[in-house]
Amino acid sequence: MNLPNQNEERKRTKNPVEVVYLKQEEKTDELKNKKYYLKTYGCQMNVHDSEELAAHLENMGAIKTDILEEADIAILNTCAVRENAHDKVFGYLGRCKHLKEINKDLIICICGCMAQEEGVVNEIKSRHPYVDIVFGTHNIHELPKLIKEYNKKQEIEVYSIEGNVYENIPYKRDSKVSAWVNIMYGCDKFCTYCIVPYTRGKQRSRKSSDIIKEINDLVNNGYLEVTLLGQNVNAYGKDIENEMSFAELLENVAKTGIKRLRFVTSHPWDFTDEMINVIAKYDNIMPYIHLPLQSGSSRILKLMGRRYTKEEYLKLFNKIKEAVPNVSITTDIIVGFPQESEEDFLETLDVVKKCEYDSAFTFIYSPREGTPAAKMQDNISLLEKEERLQRLNELVNSFSNKNNQKYLNKIVKVLVTEVSQKDNNKVCGYTENMKLVNVLAPHDTIGKIIDVKITDAKSFSLDGEII
Ligand code: SAH
Ligand code: SF4
Ligand code: F3S
Repeated sequence: MNLPNQNEERKRTKNPVEVVYLKQEEKTDELKNKKYYLKTYGCQMNVHDSEELAAHLENMGAIKTDILEEADIAILNTCAVRENAHDKVFGYLGRCKHLKEINKDLIICICGCMAQEEGVVNEIKSRHPYVDIVFGTHNIHELPKLIKEYNKKQEIEVYSIEGNVYENIPYKRDSKVSAWVNIMYGCDKFCTYCIVPYTRGKQRSRKSSDIIKEINDLVNNGYLEVTLLGQNVNAYGKDIENEMSFAELLENVAKTGIKRLRFVTSHPWDFTDEMINVIAKYDNIMPYIHLPLQSGSSRILKLMGRRYTKEEYLKLFNKIKEAVPNVSITTDIIVGFPQESEEDFLETLDVVKKCEYDSAFTFIYSPREGTPAAKMQDNISLLEKEERLQRLNELVNSFSNKNNQKYLNKIVKVLVTEVSQKDNNKVCGYTENMKLVNVLAPHDTIGKIIDVKITDAKSFSLDGEII
């Protein structure tokens, strides 16, 4: 394994992890009248990190723009989970390079998971000299310092080892009603295909007292919904002596009185009965669980290092369905993992048929350099992988549609978050089960939880009207 790399640009930070309480960031005017453009790839973790990036830039006086051509600073917050994530970033960089030829003062920054990858820093140094600042997932809070120190010379500062847990991080939250809250960083699971433990480092839980304080503040500021974030939320606390379990944390957060509580992502291996009981007990814990399957074949699950069998997964799935009325369960599935036979793939289809998921994110396996699976013989043709993906998607979509039809003419509660992108007369938001609904309702419903009658059900969204 050659990740993470410890070349000269990468500095080790001290281990073990400490909690560092940052001072409140001062407002400065280094970037007064400057516009920043921020593009985010990848998962919710990156979306939330971008809220931190935005806060740092705005604290320095910059203003956000959605138009790249207008920007003085362009930041690409990248993802490395699959090869196509890379291709997208380098494709987009081409556009930034072209703009820099017109506006030589444009500052181009790359951060996020790709920056943490072995070859990427060298690739940027040798092939993309027009990129100005590169930093990683472990030093996002240093963005103001990097900008201040930037002196027209490529500046690269990527730590190879995870740093401390930082508290009092500033966030410019995208929503005034729904907030992301990190409960942990990193991941210790090392699924054999996955690059995340390398790009995000080892698991570091925040102290429960800090998490609950942040959520109490959000409740006091009018937030109605909180989503607890982590690559493996239900392993919460295992890395700290005498810390609460995830089930206890969930219960304590539910007691803050937040109207809607969600969490992503839970690993089936860490899913306890205690957790199921807490989810069933509190009305403000939403009946929605993302429970990644990855494969339905116990043989492939073993090669993936997932720590459960097909039968164990199904047992857990049924236990949750029985204990939590009307729960929606979604999943992630990878097709074409090395050595996946037609029989293995049929096992995956069998689990999908048994679970009738509300929806599923489906992916073709993408070898990531430095992970154990990348050394396994990849003996399935791309054509075959694509064909499996298509068969899987057809099945998944049929169940998404079937599940959505159940809501026709029913009344559901929707937390309205924005104007519908499809129709200016409509607003949109999510039900308790995480169904996207476009609602015929006035714009002043934004930020409220309203009762909606469902008038049409499609595979990927519902339509409704306010009652
Ligand atoms: N921590 C979460 C999700 C991590 S990444 C979990 O454990 O479920 C999100 C999804 O990307 C994964 O669930 C997996 O389905 C997919 N993924 C990760 N690595 C991949 C790879 N190398 N090729 C294809 N899909 C991958
Ligand atoms: Fe990756 Fe597995 Fe960790 Fe999820 S649990 S982030 S798939 S290593
Ligand atoms: Fe991608 Fe990093 Fe998230 S690799 S999926 S942005 S943790």
